[in-house]
Amino acid sequence: MRRGALVLCLAAASAACADEAPPPPSEFRTTAAIEEVMRYIVDPAADAVWDAVVIEVGPLGTIERVPTSDEDWATLRRHAMTLVEATNLLLMEGRRVAVPGSRSEMPGVDLEPEEIEALLSADRPAWNQFVGALHESGLVVLDAIDRRDVDALLVAGDQLDLTCENCHLRYWYPGLASPDSATN
Ligand code: HEC
Repeated sequence: MRRGALVLCLAAASAACADEAPPPPSEFRTTAAIEEVMRYIVDPAADAVWDAVVIEVGPLGTIERVPTSDEDWATLRRHAMTLVEATNLLLMEGRRVAVPGSRSEMPGVDLEPEEIEALLSADRPAWNQFVGALHESGLVVLDAIDRRDVDALLVAGDQLDLTCENCHLRYWYPGLASPDSATN
């Protein structure tokens, strides 16, 4: 134990203390790359939200499928909570962008992992803001679910889609950032 250094720090609270006590290494052990957090956690959870309400107009008229039973709502809530909490995984520093060897599927459109990495480390607060927006959108979805409000869920789902898109346009396929060429 470095009791002496600790006492000194409390007394002095100076820059020298920072030298004495470097921040402890993170306890987090990240396994999934950001692309895997997207593929395995964020995307399936968001899909469950988007698929929860289906309105089809066909020859037999309009068919509407909405969550009805307690179980439907509970399942939906589980996905929404997964989505909300996944944002904390995206905030953790030290998580790599892509698995080793991963390359852009559409070179010239999708950035390569190292380009994404460079954007991210150049301005971490900006990344955190996009993640924060995803958290907020997820909370709106969760609120609609807790109120069992199907209309609000539809609106929240659209907003969620925009939140995904905004971040992707910044970090994944910025070349598509013109208003009429965007895709999800
Ligand atoms: C904070 C930024 C950010 C937000 C918000 C975000 N994404 Fe992503 N997403 C990324 C980045 C960066 C990549 C590219 C990772 C790579 O290819 O290395 C990506 C890639 C993906 C991929 C491709 C994963 C793969 O298999 O290669 C999917 C699918 C995806 N995102 C879905 C979503 C959905 C759905 C949402 C919203 C619910 C969302 N993302 C919100 C940053 C974000």
